[in-house]
Amino acid sequence: MKERRILVIGYGAIASDLVSELLASKETNYALGLLLRLGSSSRQKAPENVAICESIDEASAFRPDLVVEAAGHAAVRESVPALLQLGLPVLVSSIGALHDDALLTELVDTADAHGGHIILASGALGGLDYVRATRGANGLDIVYQSRKPPAAWAGELEALGHEVEELSEPVTLFEGTAREAAASYPQNLNVAAALALAGPGFEGVRVAVVCDPAAKGNSHVVTAKSELGTMRIEIVNRPSPANPKSSWVVARSLLAAIRQHFSPLRML
Ligand SMILES: NC(=O)c1ccc[n+]([C@@H]2O[C@H](COP(=O)([O-])OP(=O)(O)OC[C@H]3O[C@@H](n4cnc5c(N)ncnc54)[C@H](O)[C@@H]3O)[C@@H](O)[C@H]2O)c1
Repeated sequence: MKERRILVIGYGAIASDLVSELLASKETNYALGLLLRLGSSSRQKAPENVAICESIDEASAFRPDLVVEAAGHAAVRESVPALLQLGLPVLVSSIGALHDDALLTELVDTADAHGGHIILASGALGGLDYVRATRGANGLDIVYQSRKPPAAWAGELEALGHEVEELSEPVTLFEGTAREAAASYPQNLNVAAALALAGPGFEGVRVAVVCDPAAKGNSHVVTAKSELGTMRIEIVNRPSPANPKSSWVVARSLLAAIRQHFSPLRML
């Protein structure tokens, strides 16, 4: 069986689901490493057969074939540039970090200069292939609405003076561009950033964020209209059991992207 060496950044809700899936794989032998912050408590939770790296030097010595980020915007800023300098391909889930044009340019230029790649996961969303195809079409108009239950917005609701348990009506937390959304809600609005990068850019996607006590899951409604036609999709994801802000499907999306990365047959 072929060995694939995967370095995962972080070991939270998504990364631990992903690691479990990779270790259970029957088709591929995944040798796994985790890049954790120095002294991270995740070290104790990690499975025994997974290598722990606490610096870029240790990550490099692990000799990964692919790096997968599932740790948050700060990890994209702190670790991804140095990993791209090693010429590694990096699959990024915290796509919202790329709303910062300076960081995006730095990452793209570094990947280009060192022969690496930045791969963006579809994550909690679908339909990005269609949005990519409509890029540049006349009249392209993309609207995205995120609707999640109060558990996903506990901190934000408290900051606005709402009692999380007592919310009875939907509350619109935000309306604006994908850039503002990704900057304001780093854990929740990666999907808006993915739409922006697939399509008309961060200023070209209009975003509404609704906290709804009646919501049965984390829902994403995307409408993309252009001269080419109309896409309207609704995805209702079950929240991750370990983190209500994240959708459970995200780890599976990363797994699918890892398989695609190594497959001779790729579906874009
Ligand atoms: N693309 C998508 O659709 C999508 C959907 C959900 C979440 N995400 C992204 O995935 C990230 C992880 O989600 P989660 O639910 O697993 O969150 P989580 O809070 O459960 O886990 C994040 C883990 O990363 C660790 N971490 C933070 N900074 C780090 C760093 N610099 N280096 C190493 N580890 C670091 C934290 O200690 C924590 O254990 C989110 O912050 C979000 O940016 C993307």
